[in-house]
Amino acid sequence: MSNIGSYEEKLKDFKWEISEKELEYTKGNRINIGEYCSDRICRMGKGDKLALIWQSHTGEIKKYTFNRMRVLTNAIAEYLKSLGINSGDRVCLFMDKVPELYFGFLGILKMGGIAQPLFSAFGGESLYTRLADAETKAIITQKKHVGKVRKILADLPKLERIIVVDEEEEEKLREKELYFSMDNATPVEHFDIFPSTAETPSVLHYTSGTTGKPKGAQHVHYSLISQYITAKYVLDLKDDDIYWCTADPGWVTGTSYGIIGPWANGVTQCVLDSGFKADSWYKFIEDHKVTIWYSAPTAIRSLMKEGNEVVKQFNLSSLRHLCSVGEPLNAEAVIWSKEVFGLAFHDTFWQTETGSMMICNYPGMKIKPGSMGKPFPGITATVVDLKTYQPIERAGIVGLIAIKPGWPSMFRTYWKNEEVYKSKFRNDWYICGDRASIDEEGYFWFVGRDDDVINTAGHLVGPFEIESALLEHEAVAESAVVGKPDPVNMEVVKAFITLKPGFMGSKELELKIMNFIRKKLSPLAMPQEIEFVDSLPKTRSGKIMRRLLRAKEWGEEIGDTSTLENDD
Ligand code: WT7
Repeated sequence: MSNIGSYEEKLKDFKWEISEKELEYTKGNRINIGEYCSDRICRMGKGDKLALIWQSHTGEIKKYTFNRMRVLTNAIAEYLKSLGINSGDRVCLFMDKVPELYFGFLGILKMGGIAQPLFSAFGGESLYTRLADAETKAIITQKKHVGKVRKILADLPKLERIIVVDEEEEEKLREKELYFSMDNATPVEHFDIFPSTAETPSVLHYTSGTTGKPKGAQHVHYSLISQYITAKYVLDLKDDDIYWCTADPGWVTGTSYGIIGPWANGVTQCVLDSGFKADSWYKFIEDHKVTIWYSAPTAIRSLMKEGNEVVKQFNLSSLRHLCSVGEPLNAEAVIWSKEVFGLAFHDTFWQTETGSMMICNYPGMKIKPGSMGKPFPGITATVVDLKTYQPIERAGIVGLIAIKPGWPSMFRTYWKNEEVYKSKFRNDWYICGDRASIDEEGYFWFVGRDDDVINTAGHLVGPFEIESALLEHEAVAESAVVGKPDPVNMEVVKAFITLKPGFMGSKELELKIMNFIRKKLSPLAMPQEIEFVDSLPKTRSGKIMRRLLRAKEWGEEIGDTSTLENDD
Protein backbone atom coordinates (compact mmCIF):
# COMPACT_ATOMS: atom_id res chain seq x y z
CA MET A 1 0.00 0.00 0.00
CA SER A 2 1.42 3.37 -0.96
CA ASN A 3 1.66 6.24 1.51
CA ILE A 4 -0.87 8.31 -0.35
CA GLY A 5 -3.38 5.45 -0.59
CA SER A 6 -6.13 6.56 -2.92
CA TYR A 7 -5.49 9.91 -4.58
CA GLU A 8 -9.21 10.55 -4.93
CA GLU A 9 -9.78 9.94 -1.22
CA LYS A 10 -6.82 12.11 -0.20
CA LEU A 11 -8.11 14.88 -2.41
CA LYS A 12 -11.31 15.00 -0.38
CA ASP A 13 -9.89 15.40 3.09
CA PHE A 14 -6.31 16.59 2.71
CA LYS A 15 -5.22 19.59 4.77
CA TRP A 16 -1.71 20.92 5.31
CA GLU A 17 -2.44 20.41 9.02
CA ILE A 18 -1.94 16.68 8.38
CA SER A 19 1.71 17.41 7.62
CA GLU A 20 2.00 19.83 10.55
CA LYS A 21 0.59 17.20 12.86
CA GLU A 22 2.94 14.49 11.66
CA LEU A 23 5.84 16.88 12.20
CA GLU A 24 4.45 17.87 15.61
CA TYR A 25 4.49 21.48 14.54
CA THR A 26 2.00 23.93 15.97
CA LYS A 27 1.43 27.39 14.54
CA GLY A 28 3.60 30.09 16.04
CA ASN A 29 6.18 27.61 17.33
CA ARG A 30 9.72 27.09 16.21
CA ILE A 31 10.47 25.29 12.99
CA ASN A 32 14.00 24.76 11.71
CA ILE A 33 14.69 22.56 8.69
CA GLY A 34 18.18 21.67 9.94
CA GLU A 35 16.74 20.46 13.22
CA TYR A 36 13.97 18.48 11.54
CA CYS A 37 16.36 16.67 9.21
CA SER A 38 18.80 15.53 11.88
CA ASP A 39 18.06 16.13 15.60
CA ARG A 40 14.40 15.15 15.36
CA ILE A 41 15.19 11.96 13.47
CA CYS A 42 17.69 11.05 16.21
CA ARG A 43 15.10 11.79 18.90
CA MET A 44 12.81 9.37 17.09
CA GLY A 45 15.37 6.65 17.72
CA LYS A 46 16.96 6.56 14.26
CA GLY A 47 20.35 8.01 15.24
CA ASP A 48 22.23 4.90 14.13
CA LYS A 49 20.43 4.63 10.83
CA LEU A 50 22.34 5.69 7.70
CA ALA A 51 21.41 9.16 6.50
CA LEU A 52 23.91 9.41 3.64
CA ILE A 53 25.75 6.91 1.47
CA TRP A 54 28.10 8.94 -0.68
CA GLN A 55 30.16 7.73 -3.60
CA SER A 56 32.78 9.76 -5.47
CA HIS A 57 33.65 9.52 -9.16
CA THR A 58 36.63 7.38 -8.19
CA GLY A 59 34.42 4.91 -6.32
CA GLU A 60 35.35 6.07 -2.82
CA ILE A 61 32.45 5.58 -0.42
CA LYS A 62 31.59 7.49 2.76
CA LYS A 63 28.70 6.69 5.05
CA TYR A 64 27.12 8.88 7.72
CA THR A 65 24.43 8.02 10.23
CA PHE A 66 21.75 10.50 11.26
CA ASN A 67 23.58 11.02 14.53
CA ARG A 68 26.89 11.69 12.79
CA MET A 69 25.07 14.09 10.50
CA ARG A 70 23.53 15.79 13.53
CA VAL A 71 26.85 16.43 15.29
CA LEU A 72 28.67 17.45 12.10
CA THR A 73 25.96 19.88 11.04
CA ASN A 74 26.15 21.26 14.58
CA ALA A 75 29.90 21.66 14.15
CA ILE A 76 29.43 23.55 10.90
CA ALA A 77 26.76 25.78 12.46
CA GLU A 78 29.02 26.58 15.41
CA TYR A 79 31.98 27.27 13.15
CA LEU A 80 29.97 29.68 10.99
CA LYS A 81 28.81 31.50 14.11
CA SER A 82 32.37 31.73 15.40
CA LEU A 83 33.29 33.56 12.19
CA GLY A 84 30.76 36.27 12.94
CA ILE A 85 28.12 35.05 10.53
CA ASN A 86 24.70 36.00 11.83
CA SER A 87 21.14 34.90 11.28
CA GLY A 88 19.82 36.24 7.99
CA ASP A 89 23.29 36.38 6.41
CA ARG A 90 23.58 34.69 3.04
CA VAL A 91 26.04 31.83 2.93
CA CYS A 92 26.75 30.38 -0.48
CA LEU A 93 27.47 26.70 -1.09
CA PHE A 94 29.65 26.30 -4.18
CA MET A 95 30.73 22.68 -4.32
CA ASP A 96 30.40 19.46 -6.24
CA LYS A 97 28.06 16.89 -4.68
CA VAL A 98 30.36 16.22 -1.72
CA PRO A 99 29.06 15.48 1.80
CA GLU A 100 30.13 18.99 2.90
CA LEU A 101 27.57 20.44 0.49
CA TYR A 102 24.70 18.49 2.04
CA PHE A 103 25.74 19.01 5.65
CA GLY A 104 26.82 22.61 5.03
CA PHE A 105 23.29 23.30 3.84
CA LEU A 106 21.79 22.00 7.09
CA GLY A 107 24.50 23.69 9.18
CA ILE A 108 23.69 27.08 7.68
CA LEU A 109 19.98 26.58 8.42
CA LYS A 110 20.72 25.49 11.98
CA MET A 111 22.51 28.76 12.76
CA GLY A 112 19.78 30.84 11.11
CA GLY A 113 21.69 31.72 7.96
CA ILE A 114 20.18 31.77 4.48
CA ALA A 115 21.62 28.98 2.35
CA GLN A 116 22.43 30.02 -1.21
CA PRO A 117 23.40 26.93 -3.20
CA LEU A 118 25.01 27.53 -6.59
CA PHE A 119 25.86 24.99 -9.28
CA SER A 120 29.60 24.31 -9.10
CA ALA A 121 29.94 24.29 -12.91
CA PHE A 122 29.10 28.00 -12.94
CA GLY A 123 31.81 30.22 -14.31
CA GLY A 124 32.99 33.48 -12.76
CA GLU A 125 30.37 35.71 -14.31
CA SER A 126 27.40 33.51 -13.31
CA LEU A 127 28.82 33.27 -9.82
CA TYR A 128 29.51 36.99 -9.57
CA THR A 129 25.98 38.03 -10.62
CA ARG A 130 24.39 35.87 -7.95
CA LEU A 131 26.81 36.67 -5.11
CA ALA A 132 26.63 40.40 -5.82
CA ASP A 133 22.83 40.38 -5.94
CA ALA A 134 22.48 38.47 -2.66
CA GLU A 135 25.29 40.44 -0.96
CA THR A 136 26.58 37.10 0.19
CA LYS A 137 28.74 37.19 3.33
CA ALA A 138 30.48 33.84 3.13
CA ILE A 139 31.03 31.10 0.60
CA ILE A 140 31.84 27.46 1.27
CA THR A 141 33.75 25.87 -1.58
CA GLN A 142 36.40 23.37 -2.66
CA LYS A 143 39.96 24.09 -3.72
CA LYS A 144 39.12 23.12 -7.30
CA HIS A 145 36.59 25.98 -7.45
CA VAL A 146 38.24 28.62 -5.27
CA GLY A 147 40.07 30.11 -8.26
CA LYS A 148 36.76 31.30 -9.69
CA VAL A 149 36.00 33.09 -6.42
CA ARG A 150 39.45 34.69 -6.27
CA LYS A 151 39.00 36.27 -9.70
CA ILE A 152 35.83 38.14 -8.68
CA LEU A 153 36.64 38.81 -5.04
CA ALA A 154 37.76 42.41 -5.59
CA ASP A 155 34.29 43.25 -6.92
CA LEU A 156 32.46 41.63 -4.00
CA PRO A 157 32.99 43.93 -1.02
CA LYS A 158 30.32 42.12 1.06
CA LEU A 159 32.03 38.73 0.76
CA GLU A 160 34.00 38.38 4.00
CA ARG A 161 34.83 34.70 4.27
CA ILE A 162 35.81 31.98 1.84
CA ILE A 163 35.72 28.59 3.51
CA VAL A 164 37.63 25.89 1.65
CA VAL A 165 36.70 22.39 2.81
CA ASP A 166 39.64 20.48 1.34
CA GLU A 167 42.72 22.71 1.31
CA GLU A 168 45.01 20.96 3.75
CA GLU A 169 48.04 23.04 2.83
CA GLU A 170 47.01 26.18 4.65
CA GLU A 171 49.90 28.14 3.20
CA LYS A 172 48.09 27.95 -0.13
CA LEU A 173 45.17 29.95 1.24
CA ARG A 174 44.86 33.57 0.27
CA GLU A 175 43.02 36.67 1.44
CA LYS A 176 39.81 35.94 3.40
CA GLU A 177 40.27 32.17 2.93
CA LEU A 178 39.97 29.61 5.72
CA TYR A 179 40.29 25.84 5.83
CA PHE A 180 37.54 23.82 7.51
CA SER A 181 37.66 20.05 7.41
CA MET A 182 34.24 18.64 8.19
CA ASP A 183 35.26 15.03 8.68
CA ASN A 184 38.00 16.07 11.11
CA ALA A 185 35.94 18.66 12.96
CA THR A 186 35.20 18.06 16.62
CA PRO A 187 31.63 16.75 16.69
CA VAL A 188 29.33 19.14 18.52
CA GLU A 189 26.90 17.27 20.75
CA HIS A 190 24.81 20.27 21.63
CA PHE A 191 24.22 23.35 19.52
CA ASP A 192 21.63 26.01 20.26
CA ILE A 193 19.65 25.90 17.07
CA PHE A 194 18.47 29.27 15.82
CA PRO A 195 14.86 29.75 16.97
CA SER A 196 13.47 30.15 13.48
CA THR A 197 9.73 30.28 13.00
CA ALA A 198 7.54 29.65 9.96
CA GLU A 199 8.43 32.80 8.04
CA THR A 200 12.15 32.87 8.80
CA PRO A 201 14.11 32.91 5.50
CA SER A 202 15.84 29.61 4.77
CA VAL A 203 17.01 29.11 1.19
CA LEU A 204 17.75 31.46 -1.70
CA HIS A 205 17.69 29.71 -5.09
CA TYR A 206 18.57 31.71 -8.19
CA THR A 207 16.52 31.15 -11.31
CA SER A 208 16.64 32.68 -14.77
CA GLY A 209 13.96 34.71 -16.50
CA THR A 210 13.65 36.19 -19.97
CA THR A 211 14.77 39.65 -19.06
CA GLY A 212 17.09 41.05 -16.47
CA LYS A 213 19.47 39.25 -14.18
CA PRO A 214 18.73 35.92 -12.51
CA LYS A 215 16.36 36.32 -9.58
CA GLY A 216 16.71 34.85 -6.10
CA ALA A 217 13.58 32.91 -5.11
CA GLN A 218 13.36 33.38 -1.38
CA HIS A 219 12.06 30.46 0.69
CA VAL A 220 11.22 30.09 4.39
CA HIS A 221 11.50 27.33 7.00
CA TYR A 222 7.76 26.63 6.78
CA SER A 223 8.40 25.14 3.29
CA LEU A 224 9.18 21.94 5.19
CA ILE A 225 5.44 21.31 5.62
CA SER A 226 5.09 20.92 1.83
CA GLN A 227 8.42 19.21 1.22
CA TYR A 228 7.92 16.58 3.92
CA ILE A 229 4.45 15.49 2.87
CA THR A 230 5.06 15.58 -0.90
CA ALA A 231 8.20 13.47 -0.43
CA LYS A 232 6.09 11.05 1.56
CA TYR A 233 3.09 10.89 -0.79
CA VAL A 234 4.63 11.40 -4.23
CA LEU A 235 8.04 9.75 -3.84
CA ASP A 236 6.36 7.26 -1.50
CA LEU A 237 9.33 7.29 0.88
CA LYS A 238 9.13 4.69 3.62
CA ASP A 239 11.37 3.79 6.50
CA ASP A 240 13.38 1.07 4.78
CA ASP A 241 13.81 2.81 1.44
CA ILE A 242 17.15 3.65 -0.15
CA TYR A 243 16.50 6.79 -2.10
CA TRP A 244 18.52 8.32 -4.92
CA CYS A 245 17.86 11.83 -6.23
CA THR A 246 20.15 12.49 -9.17
CA ALA A 247 19.77 16.29 -9.03
CA ASP A 248 22.53 18.64 -7.90
CA PRO A 249 21.64 20.80 -4.86
CA GLY A 250 22.68 23.82 -6.93
CA TRP A 251 19.12 23.49 -8.25
CA VAL A 252 15.91 23.27 -6.28
CA THR A 253 15.25 19.56 -6.86
CA GLY A 254 18.57 18.81 -5.19
CA THR A 255 17.59 20.68 -2.02
CA SER A 256 13.81 20.15 -1.70
CA TYR A 257 14.08 16.44 -2.60
CA GLY A 258 17.82 15.80 -2.36
CA ILE A 259 18.09 17.06 1.23
CA ILE A 260 14.96 18.31 2.99
CA GLY A 261 12.11 15.97 1.96
CA PRO A 262 13.91 12.64 2.36
CA TRP A 263 15.81 13.47 5.56
CA ALA A 264 12.76 15.01 7.24
CA ASN A 265 11.19 11.60 6.53
CA GLY A 266 14.20 9.89 8.13
CA VAL A 267 15.10 8.07 4.91
CA THR A 268 18.56 6.90 3.77
CA GLN A 269 19.84 8.76 0.72
CA CYS A 270 22.53 7.85 -1.80
CA VAL A 271 24.58 10.44 -3.63
CA LEU A 272 26.76 9.79 -6.66
CA ASP A 273 29.23 12.61 -7.16
CA SER A 274 29.95 12.09 -10.82
CA GLY A 275 28.52 12.82 -14.22
CA PHE A 276 26.14 10.72 -16.26
CA LYS A 277 27.20 7.30 -17.52
CA ALA A 278 24.57 4.63 -18.08
CA ASP A 279 26.52 1.63 -16.77
CA SER A 280 27.84 3.42 -13.68
CA TRP A 281 24.32 4.61 -12.88
CA TYR A 282 22.90 1.10 -13.12
CA LYS A 283 25.83 -0.23 -11.09
CA PHE A 284 25.14 2.40 -8.43
CA ILE A 285 21.51 1.25 -8.17
CA GLU A 286 22.59 -2.38 -7.95
CA ASP A 287 25.39 -1.78 -5.40
CA HIS A 288 23.34 0.34 -3.03
CA LYS A 289 20.02 -1.42 -3.64
CA VAL A 290 18.27 1.80 -4.51
CA THR A 291 14.50 1.49 -4.13
CA ILE A 292 13.25 4.97 -5.05
CA TRP A 293 14.77 6.95 -7.87
CA TYR A 294 14.05 10.60 -8.71
CA SER A 295 15.62 11.76 -11.96
CA ALA A 296 15.04 13.89 -15.05
CA PRO A 297 13.89 13.31 -18.64
CA THR A 298 17.29 14.15 -20.14
CA ALA A 299 18.90 11.42 -18.04
CA ILE A 300 16.13 8.98 -18.92
CA ARG A 301 16.48 9.74 -22.63
CA SER A 302 20.26 9.27 -22.32
CA LEU A 303 19.65 5.87 -20.72
CA MET A 304 17.22 4.99 -23.52
CA LYS A 305 19.90 5.84 -26.06
CA GLU A 306 22.30 3.39 -24.44
CA GLY A 307 19.80 0.64 -25.15
CA ASN A 308 18.18 -2.24 -23.33
CA GLU A 309 21.11 -4.67 -23.37
CA VAL A 310 23.14 -2.73 -20.81
CA VAL A 311 20.19 -2.78 -18.39
CA LYS A 312 20.22 -6.58 -18.40
CA GLN A 313 23.80 -6.67 -17.10
CA PHE A 314 22.66 -5.35 -13.73
CA ASN A 315 20.32 -6.50 -11.02
CA LEU A 316 17.93 -3.62 -10.60
CA SER A 317 15.25 -5.58 -8.77
CA SER A 318 15.54 -3.33 -5.70
CA LEU A 319 13.80 -0.49 -7.55
CA ARG A 320 10.15 -0.03 -6.64
CA HIS A 321 9.18 3.54 -7.58
CA LEU A 322 10.49 6.01 -10.16
CA CYS A 323 9.81 9.73 -10.53
CA SER A 324 10.93 12.45 -12.92
CA VAL A 325 11.05 16.26 -13.00
CA GLY A 326 12.40 19.23 -14.86
CA GLU A 327 11.14 18.94 -18.41
CA PRO A 328 8.30 17.29 -20.23
CA LEU A 329 8.59 13.54 -19.87
CA ASN A 330 7.81 12.04 -23.26
CA ALA A 331 5.29 9.23 -23.45
CA GLU A 332 7.99 7.03 -25.06
CA ALA A 333 10.20 7.41 -21.98
CA VAL A 334 7.37 6.27 -19.70
CA ILE A 335 6.62 3.29 -21.92
CA TRP A 336 10.33 2.41 -22.18
CA SER A 337 10.88 2.49 -18.43
CA LYS A 338 7.88 0.24 -17.91
CA GLU A 339 9.36 -2.17 -20.40
CA VAL A 340 12.93 -2.28 -19.07
CA PHE A 341 12.48 -1.67 -15.33
CA GLY A 342 8.95 -2.97 -15.04
CA LEU A 343 8.14 0.44 -13.55
CA ALA A 344 6.87 3.63 -15.14
CA PHE A 345 8.57 6.93 -14.42
CA HIS A 346 6.05 9.18 -12.66
CA ASP A 347 6.25 12.73 -13.96
CA THR A 348 6.13 15.62 -11.47
CA PHE A 349 5.81 19.29 -12.36
CA TRP A 350 6.97 22.16 -10.18
CA GLN A 351 9.43 25.06 -10.09
CA THR A 352 12.10 26.80 -8.07
CA GLU A 353 9.39 29.26 -7.04
CA THR A 354 6.90 26.61 -5.89
CA GLY A 355 9.50 24.95 -3.64
CA SER A 356 7.70 21.60 -3.82
CA MET A 357 5.82 19.39 -6.27
CA MET A 358 2.60 20.86 -7.69
CA ILE A 359 1.19 18.60 -10.42
CA CYS A 360 2.16 14.95 -10.30
CA ASN A 361 1.48 11.33 -11.07
CA TYR A 362 0.88 9.42 -7.84
CA PRO A 363 1.62 5.82 -6.91
CA GLY A 364 -1.50 3.84 -7.69
CA MET A 365 -3.05 6.48 -9.93
CA LYS A 366 -3.60 5.66 -13.60
CA ILE A 367 -0.74 7.13 -15.62
CA LYS A 368 -1.47 8.66 -18.99
CA PRO A 369 1.99 8.63 -20.60
CA GLY A 370 2.94 12.19 -21.58
CA SER A 371 0.72 13.85 -18.96
CA MET A 372 2.10 15.65 -15.88
CA GLY A 373 -0.75 14.23 -13.81
CA LYS A 374 -3.00 16.07 -11.38
CA PRO A 375 -2.57 18.72 -8.66
CA PHE A 376 -1.20 17.54 -5.33
CA PRO A 377 -3.96 17.38 -2.69
CA GLY A 378 -3.96 20.80 -1.02
CA ILE A 379 -2.92 22.49 -4.27
CA THR A 380 -5.52 24.28 -6.39
CA ALA A 381 -4.21 24.43 -9.93
CA THR A 382 -5.83 25.26 -13.23
CA VAL A 383 -5.07 26.82 -16.59
CA VAL A 384 -6.10 30.41 -17.21
CA ASP A 385 -6.73 32.32 -20.40
CA LEU A 386 -3.56 33.73 -22.01
CA LYS A 387 -4.94 37.26 -21.97
CA THR A 388 -7.70 37.57 -19.37
CA TYR A 389 -6.17 35.22 -16.77
CA GLN A 390 -9.63 33.76 -16.16
CA PRO A 391 -9.77 30.00 -15.52
CA ILE A 392 -10.57 28.03 -18.68
CA GLU A 393 -13.53 25.78 -18.05
CA ARG A 394 -13.40 23.71 -21.24
CA ALA A 395 -11.18 20.65 -21.51
CA GLY A 396 -8.35 20.65 -24.04
CA ILE A 397 -7.93 24.42 -24.36
CA VAL A 398 -4.38 25.68 -23.89
CA GLY A 399 -3.82 28.29 -21.20
CA LEU A 400 -1.30 29.30 -18.56
CA ILE A 401 -0.68 27.03 -15.59
CA ALA A 402 -1.92 28.91 -12.53
CA ILE A 403 -1.83 27.98 -8.85
CA LYS A 404 -3.81 29.44 -5.93
CA PRO A 405 -1.26 31.06 -3.62
CA GLY A 406 -0.92 29.97 -0.02
CA TRP A 407 0.75 26.54 -0.09
CA PRO A 408 3.47 26.29 2.56
CA SER A 409 6.55 26.17 0.29
CA MET A 410 5.60 29.04 -2.01
CA PHE A 411 8.49 31.48 -2.51
CA ARG A 412 7.95 34.60 -0.44
CA THR A 413 9.59 37.09 -2.80
CA TYR A 414 12.43 37.50 -5.26
CA TRP A 415 15.43 38.79 -3.38
CA LYS A 416 15.15 42.58 -3.35
CA ASN A 417 12.85 42.45 -6.34
CA GLU A 418 9.31 42.72 -5.01
CA GLU A 419 8.15 44.27 -8.26
CA VAL A 420 8.92 41.22 -10.39
CA TYR A 421 7.53 39.00 -7.63
CA LYS A 422 4.21 40.86 -7.75
CA SER A 423 4.10 40.60 -11.54
CA LYS A 424 3.83 36.81 -11.20
CA PHE A 425 0.37 37.09 -9.67
CA ARG A 426 -2.79 37.81 -11.68
CA ASN A 427 -6.40 37.69 -10.46
CA ASP A 428 -5.30 35.90 -7.27
CA TRP A 429 -3.41 33.23 -9.19
CA TYR A 430 0.31 32.56 -9.22
CA ILE A 431 1.23 32.28 -12.92
CA CYS A 432 3.94 29.70 -13.53
CA GLY A 433 4.94 30.91 -16.98
CA ASP A 434 4.11 27.60 -18.66
CA ARG A 435 1.35 26.65 -21.09
CA ALA A 436 -0.74 23.52 -20.69
CA SER A 437 -4.21 22.10 -21.17
CA ILE A 438 -6.38 19.96 -18.92
CA ASP A 439 -8.30 16.96 -20.27
CA GLU A 440 -11.80 15.74 -19.34
CA GLU A 441 -10.40 13.64 -16.51
CA GLY A 442 -8.44 16.51 -14.97
CA TYR A 443 -5.00 15.45 -16.23
CA PHE A 444 -2.59 18.28 -17.12
CA TRP A 445 -0.73 18.20 -20.45
CA PHE A 446 2.35 20.40 -20.81
CA VAL A 447 2.61 22.48 -23.97
CA GLY A 448 5.65 24.71 -23.50
CA ARG A 449 6.97 27.75 -21.74
CA ASP A 450 5.19 31.03 -22.18
CA ASP A 451 8.44 33.00 -22.39
CA ASP A 452 11.85 32.79 -24.08
CA VAL A 453 13.55 30.93 -21.24
CA ILE A 454 15.47 27.89 -22.50
CA ASN A 455 15.11 24.55 -20.74
CA THR A 456 18.23 22.52 -21.47
CA ALA A 457 18.55 19.15 -19.77
CA GLY A 458 16.02 20.26 -17.16
CA HIS A 459 17.87 23.47 -16.32
CA LEU A 460 16.55 26.90 -17.13
CA VAL A 461 18.90 29.34 -18.79
CA GLY A 462 17.93 32.92 -19.45
CA PRO A 463 18.68 34.20 -22.96
CA PHE A 464 19.41 37.65 -21.58
CA GLU A 465 22.30 36.46 -19.43
CA ILE A 466 23.90 34.70 -22.41
CA GLU A 467 23.30 37.59 -24.82
CA SER A 468 24.89 40.01 -22.35
CA ALA A 469 27.92 37.76 -21.95
CA LEU A 470 28.23 37.36 -25.74
CA LEU A 471 28.43 41.12 -26.13
CA GLU A 472 31.55 41.09 -24.01
CA HIS A 473 33.36 39.11 -26.71
CA GLU A 474 35.47 41.36 -28.93
CA ALA A 475 33.98 40.06 -32.17
CA VAL A 476 30.29 40.26 -31.26
CA ALA A 477 28.18 43.25 -32.28
CA GLU A 478 24.68 41.91 -31.55
CA SER A 479 23.27 38.61 -30.45
CA ALA A 480 20.04 36.72 -29.98
CA VAL A 481 19.82 33.44 -28.12
CA VAL A 482 17.09 30.85 -28.48
CA GLY A 483 16.45 27.20 -27.66
CA LYS A 484 16.87 24.73 -30.50
CA PRO A 485 15.38 21.22 -30.40
CA ASP A 486 17.65 18.43 -29.23
CA PRO A 487 16.74 14.74 -29.00
CA VAL A 488 18.35 14.22 -25.59
CA ASN A 489 18.49 17.60 -23.83
CA MET A 490 15.12 18.71 -25.19
CA GLU A 491 16.62 22.10 -26.05
CA VAL A 492 20.14 23.39 -26.47
CA VAL A 493 21.30 26.98 -26.70
CA LYS A 494 21.69 28.45 -30.17
CA ALA A 495 23.10 31.95 -30.72
CA PHE A 496 22.60 34.22 -33.69
CA ILE A 497 25.39 36.73 -33.94
CA THR A 498 26.23 39.76 -36.02
CA LEU A 499 29.93 40.54 -36.04
CA LYS A 500 31.82 43.79 -35.57
CA PRO A 501 33.60 45.23 -38.58
CA GLY A 502 36.87 43.47 -39.23
CA PHE A 503 35.63 40.04 -38.03
CA MET A 504 34.64 37.14 -40.25
CA GLY A 505 32.47 34.22 -39.22
CA SER A 506 34.43 30.94 -39.15
CA LYS A 507 34.42 27.57 -37.40
CA GLU A 508 37.37 28.75 -35.35
CA LEU A 509 35.60 31.89 -34.17
CA GLU A 510 32.51 29.84 -33.38
CA LEU A 511 34.54 27.56 -31.11
CA LYS A 512 36.27 30.51 -29.47
CA ILE A 513 32.95 32.15 -28.65
CA MET A 514 31.49 28.89 -27.37
CA ASN A 515 34.42 28.44 -25.02
CA PHE A 516 34.20 32.05 -23.92
CA ILE A 517 30.62 31.48 -22.73
CA ARG A 518 31.33 28.10 -21.18
CA LYS A 519 34.02 29.63 -18.98
CA LYS A 520 32.13 32.80 -18.16
CA LEU A 521 28.71 31.27 -17.49
CA SER A 522 28.52 27.48 -17.55
CA PRO A 523 28.55 24.47 -19.88
CA LEU A 524 24.72 24.62 -19.88
CA ALA A 525 24.69 28.19 -21.15
CA MET A 526 27.30 27.50 -23.86
CA PRO A 527 25.75 27.76 -27.34
CA GLN A 528 25.91 24.39 -29.09
CA GLU A 529 25.57 26.22 -32.36
CA ILE A 530 26.36 29.72 -33.53
CA GLU A 531 24.95 31.18 -36.70
CA PHE A 532 26.65 34.31 -38.00
CA VAL A 533 24.08 36.56 -39.64
CA ASP A 534 24.14 39.96 -41.33
CA SER A 535 21.30 41.31 -39.22
CA LEU A 536 18.80 40.23 -36.57
CA PRO A 537 15.02 40.57 -36.93
CA LYS A 538 13.76 43.42 -34.78
CA THR A 539 10.51 45.03 -33.73
CA ARG A 540 9.79 48.61 -34.69
CA SER A 541 11.11 49.70 -31.33
CA GLY A 542 14.35 47.83 -31.93
CA LYS A 543 13.73 44.79 -29.70
CA ILE A 544 15.16 41.59 -31.10
CA MET A 545 12.42 39.11 -32.08
CA ARG A 546 13.71 35.97 -30.47
CA ARG A 547 10.41 34.22 -31.05
CA LEU A 548 10.80 34.49 -34.80
CA LEU A 549 14.24 32.90 -34.65
CA ARG A 550 12.97 30.24 -32.29
CA ALA A 551 10.01 29.37 -34.50
CA LYS A 552 12.40 28.83 -37.41
CA GLU A 553 14.53 26.43 -35.35
CA TRP A 554 11.44 24.43 -34.37
CA GLY A 555 10.01 24.45 -37.88
CA GLU A 556 6.91 26.22 -36.61
CA GLU A 557 4.58 28.47 -38.53
CA ILE A 558 5.69 32.01 -37.86
CA GLY A 559 2.25 33.31 -38.72
CA ASP A 560 1.36 36.93 -38.47
CA THR A 561 4.61 38.79 -37.85
CA SER A 562 2.79 42.07 -37.30
CA THR A 563 1.69 40.82 -33.89
CA LEU A 564 5.25 39.83 -33.14
CA GLU A 565 6.41 43.25 -34.13
CA ASN A 566 4.02 44.85 -31.71
CA ASP A 567 5.10 42.55 -28.99
CA ASP A 568 7.49 44.85 -27.17
C1 WT7 B 1 10.38 24.94 -15.11
C2 WT7 B 1 10.86 25.16 -13.71
C3 WT7 B 1 11.40 22.02 -10.05
C4 WT7 B 1 12.32 21.17 -10.60
C5 WT7 B 1 13.37 21.61 -11.53
C6 WT7 B 1 13.10 22.77 -12.42
C7 WT7 B 1 9.86 23.12 -16.46
C8 WT7 B 1 9.59 21.39 -14.62
C9 WT7 B 1 8.37 19.90 -15.61
C10 WT7 B 1 7.58 18.81 -16.07
C11 WT7 B 1 7.34 19.93 -18.12
C12 WT7 B 1 8.60 20.97 -16.51
C13 WT7 B 1 8.75 24.16 -16.54
C14 WT7 B 1 8.89 24.89 -15.22
N1 WT7 B 1 9.37 21.87 -15.85
N2 WT7 B 1 9.01 20.20 -14.46
N3 WT7 B 1 7.33 17.76 -15.28
N4 WT7 B 1 7.09 18.88 -17.33
N5 WT7 B 1 8.08 20.99 -17.75
O1 WT7 B 1 12.94 23.95 -11.70
O2 WT7 B 1 14.53 25.48 -12.87
O3 WT7 B 1 12.57 26.41 -11.60
O4 WT7 B 1 12.25 25.18 -13.75
O5 WT7 B 1 10.85 23.69 -15.60
O6 WT7 B 1 9.00 25.01 -17.60
O7 WT7 B 1 8.32 26.16 -15.20
P1 WT7 B 1 13.13 25.33 -12.44
